[in-house]
Amino acid sequence: MNSSHELLLTALIATFAIFHLVQAQEQEGFISLDCGLAPTEPSPYTEPVTTLQYSSDSNFIQSGKLGRIDTSLQTFFLKQQTTLRYFPDGIRNCYNLTVKQGTNYLIRARFTYGNYDGRNMSPTFDLYLGPNLWKRIDMTKLQNKVSTLEEITYIPLSNSLDVCLVKTNTTIPFISALELRPLPSNSYITTAGSLRTFVRFCFSNSVEDIRFPMDVHDRMWESYFDDDWTQISTSLTVNTSDSFRLPQAALITAATPAKDGPSYIGITFSTSSEERFFIYLHFSEVQALRANETREFNISINGESVADLYRPVYLVIYSPRRKLSSKGLTGTIAADIQYLTSLEKLDLSDNKLVGVVPEFLANMKSLMFINLTKNDLHGSIPQALRDREKKGLKILFDGDKNDPCLSTSCNPKKKFSVMIVAIVASTVVYTTITNYAIRECYVH
Ligand SMILES: *[C@@H]1O[C@H](CO)[C@@H](O)[C@H](O)[C@H]1NC(C)=O
Ligand SMILES: *[C@@H]1O[C@H](CO)[C@@H](O)[C@H](O)[C@H]1NC(C)=O
Ligand SMILES: *[C@@H]1O[C@H](CO)[C@@H](O)[C@H](O)[C@H]1NC(C)=O
Ligand SMILES: *[C@@H]1O[C@H](CO)[C@@H](O)[C@H](O)[C@H]1NC(C)=O
Ligand SMILES: *[C@@H]1O[C@H](CO)[C@@H](O)[C@H](O)[C@H]1NC(C)=O
Ligand SMILES: *[C@@H]1O[C@H](CO)[C@@H](O)[C@H](O)[C@H]1NC(C)=O
Repeated sequence: MNSSHELLLTALIATFAIFHLVQAQEQEGFISLDCGLAPTEPSPYTEPVTTLQYSSDSNFIQSGKLGRIDTSLQTFFLKQQTTLRYFPDGIRNCYNLTVKQGTNYLIRARFTYGNYDGRNMSPTFDLYLGPNLWKRIDMTKLQNKVSTLEEITYIPLSNSLDVCLVKTNTTIPFISALELRPLPSNSYITTAGSLRTFVRFCFSNSVEDIRFPMDVHDRMWESYFDDDWTQISTSLTVNTSDSFRLPQAALITAATPAKDGPSYIGITFSTSSEERFFIYLHFSEVQALRANETREFNISINGESVADLYRPVYLVIYSPRRKLSSKGLTGTIAADIQYLTSLEKLDLSDNKLVGVVPEFLANMKSLMFINLTKNDLHGSIPQALRDREKKGLKILFDGDKNDPCLSTSCNPKKKFSVMIVAIVASTVVYTTITNYAIRECYVH
């Protein structure tokens, strides 16, 4: 063997070893269920395209029957979507999953009908997360009538989680795959509770769609690019040490306005007006600018400023945080808010919030200011928050100081989660659109 062969062999082995080590770490906490996997097949198995390890769902549900999509369609889908579990009996059938309480999960359910029953009749049924409706699955509305998926973020309140399929019609509910991915803490947490994914884009005219293992959290990124744009890119590594742990592959390309086109990048989505949207934008400079060059721009959403005169930093990612109009909030203060651990200011003033001032606000260690004035809250400020006041937390609250109802003894009249708006103070600085995700809020 000559020396150049030897060198190549060593390099290959090194890459291989590192790959396996990384892979073993990265799937930590993942739950990947291949619903309806035949008992004769090995479980778990490694799906070769994604390198994800899927298991049979049989340990997580007792009911249902196993089905397999039409042979002619099998080559179009990854293995986990070629089989399914369907539920001809009972109204409500549930998976019982063991999860980590308080962890923010990305939960994905896949439905590939593929005429498994030979009836060519797309079913309609409801998908539930615990007691809450997640989404009505109406396969008759799909263009391809074959396959769809739903994705949502959710923080389980205990160590077990039910995902349920509920009959709403004469058609039979079914599911093809169920995937749970722990998200980086302190990333997609909102006061509104769960977020349903609307779209997640990376701006590239060359990169294939991205998921695991490129994205260690198995978020799925679609490539998107407009004719009016120019792609710029880098071969260097973008510093992604911010809380989103974004995939390198989505950050090395970016979009700028083309020379002869408009001087801005505009992206429009049609949405239904009842839905509220959360938009996560990520920026990084990917070109080494000359000393006499500056890239500077304003970022806005529907005319509302996100950042003005922003200059992206070379190879450092910026994810501006802003939340939305704080008006029109009703109901009690949602418990999810306590997970916004880096929140410094919380302005819930001038809404129709009811119930008591919750004690869990004291868990938010970075909080320096809370404005609760002009609401229908009652009771007094709980002791734990009073203790924080002594350490510098400023609380504005105009509740009835003589209200005999104390925070521990009063129950709110109505109990439902609400959209709450918070202001996140950020000291990070950021430009060119690299990628962004729009997420649809789910209020239950
Ligand atoms: C789900 O499983 C957990 C533990 O594995 C158990 O405590 C709980 O009762 C189960 N829930 C249901 C609804 O079966
Ligand atoms: C029930 O399913 C039938 C088709 O089988 C459909 O025409 C009808 O609209 C469905 N009803 C509801 C309430 O979804
Ligand atoms: C990445 O950025 C963070 C925060 O901006 C900084 O603390 C860290 O040193 C950077 N890492 C590298 C390798 O540049
Ligand atoms: C910027 O500097 C480069 C040389 O570093 C020069 O070629 C270029 O013309 C300058 N551009 C402007 C607008 O001054
Ligand atoms: C960008 O923001 C700055 C500061 O608010 C403002 O003066 C400027 O007019 C804005 N530019 C555009 C094109 O909107
Ligand atoms: C608190 O909220 C009230 C009502 O929206 C507002 O008038 C007041 O200025 C706010 N106080 C501070 C210090 O932000």
